Amino acid sequence: MARAKVKTVFFCKECGYESTKWMGQCPGCGEWNTLVEEKAVPASSGRMSGLSSGSRGKRKLTGLFEVSMEEEERMDSGIPELNRVLGGGIVKGSLILVGGDPGIGKSTLLLQICRNLANDGKNIVYVSGEESLKQIKMRADRLGDFQKDIYLLCETDIMVAADMIREEKPDMVVVDSVQTMSSEEITSAAGSISQVREVTSVLMQLAKEEGIAVFIVGHVTKEGVVAGPKTLEHMVDTVLYFEGEQNAVYRILRGVKNRFGSTNEIGVFEMKQRGLFEVSNPSQVMLDGRPLDSSGSVVVCSMEGTRPLLIEIQALVSPTSFNMPRRTSVGIDFNRVNLLLAVLEKRAGMQLGGCDAYVNLAGGMRLGEPAIDLGIVCAVISSYRNIPVHHGTMIFGEVGLTGEVRGVGFVEQRLNEAIKMGFTRCIIPKTNVESLEESYKKRIQICGVSNVREVIEIL
Ligand code: TYD
Ligand code: MG
Repeated sequence: MARAKVKTVFFCKECGYESTKWMGQCPGCGEWNTLVEEKAVPASSGRMSGLSSGSRGKRKLTGLFEVSMEEEERMDSGIPELNRVLGGGIVKGSLILVGGDPGIGKSTLLLQICRNLANDGKNIVYVSGEESLKQIKMRADRLGDFQKDIYLLCETDIMVAADMIREEKPDMVVVDSVQTMSSEEITSAAGSISQVREVTSVLMQLAKEEGIAVFIVGHVTKEGVVAGPKTLEHMVDTVLYFEGEQNAVYRILRGVKNRFGSTNEIGVFEMKQRGLFEVSNPSQVMLDGRPLDSSGSVVVCSMEGTRPLLIEIQALVSPTSFNMPRRTSVGIDFNRVNLLLAVLEKRAGMQLGGCDAYVNLAGGMRLGEPAIDLGIVCAVISSYRNIPVHHGTMIFGEVGLTGEVRGVGFVEQRLNEAIKMGFTRCIIPKTNVESLEESYKKRIQICGVSNVREVIEIL
């Protein structure tokens, strides 16, 4: 007897690449062992198909000049930091993905947005597949100040939820979380790649057709990406990540993709008894409690979106007792740290090959801007030589492979921030000094450097 064969496809967990057979390496992104088997999805489901075929007759071309800008209507979330990260408020009809570790405060933030919008007279639906009505109510009581009602729905079937949303026509919908929702049309389990995609595409249609702002919560994997394929990030309009250490009170909301504003804008929040509160001066927070005048600690300035942020980098360099020196980095790209150590070894003659090196960024932040290179270099030198860098010193600049210090952008903003925070001296690339206005030189002592050897002399 011939058994009916269930068709399966293989998806890459990282990039969503589809294949009919299993492969060790994904041809899409080059990662190994990321292909997982799932039941095949009938092509008709979801996927914007209804949108195009139904209205095919009515389509016409639009001139660029005819497009009116009013279409992009924004709602005030009542949280200025969030508005800024979103590029000026919540755009109607946009789909926003909020990712982050469990317990970081995603549900709290979203419920706060719901409260603010509801109090503002907006109609809100909160769909939860994770928590019971009681749990949501408890959180709401904790946050307090709910003046108007919001509508809750505990449901894991996305089709049921979508129908109810279509009927209610709210201004904003929250779906917490995308991994718990599923569609009956797809046989694989909730949280699988095809389910997550399907749920997102249903929500995408809902957002675009009804002009509803939809927030979806996505859990992240150990590697720090939203579980499910990267394709989820391609599908939505905006991706926000909640970062920070579980135990730290400070949380950073980072925009990594935004079709309606600039990316890499950050908002800093503090988790308190009654929800998340904005931090208006993040540099202050990041520098709080830093050791003064101890070796290995320096302050750098990194541009996060349009805002300069002062932050402490710490390095610990000590002779190794292993065959292979140990190197770790927290909050900074590990390869970048290794590269800079190699530059110091070769270009400044420091014997780092026999040393363990640990480099940390304070406050649970993650930075990727090359302008912090010089800070890392200074922290390493300071720890290696055991000479403290004066606590009133701020450092920025990019370091190249030949040990040269290169100029960076936004010099004036960075210096202003340093002056505002009471710093008295800064070490910056020489090329940046030349293009600087005279007035700065009176307000803060400026040391221009052109390579790492000069840095060592100054320190
Ligand atoms: P939560 O929003 O449930 O996190 P997520 O949805 O990202 O998993 O928040 C979890 C943590 O925040 C929890 O440990 C309790 C804490 N918390 C506060 O400290 N204050 C508050 O007002 C609230 C609501 C939560
Ligand atoms: Mg939650």
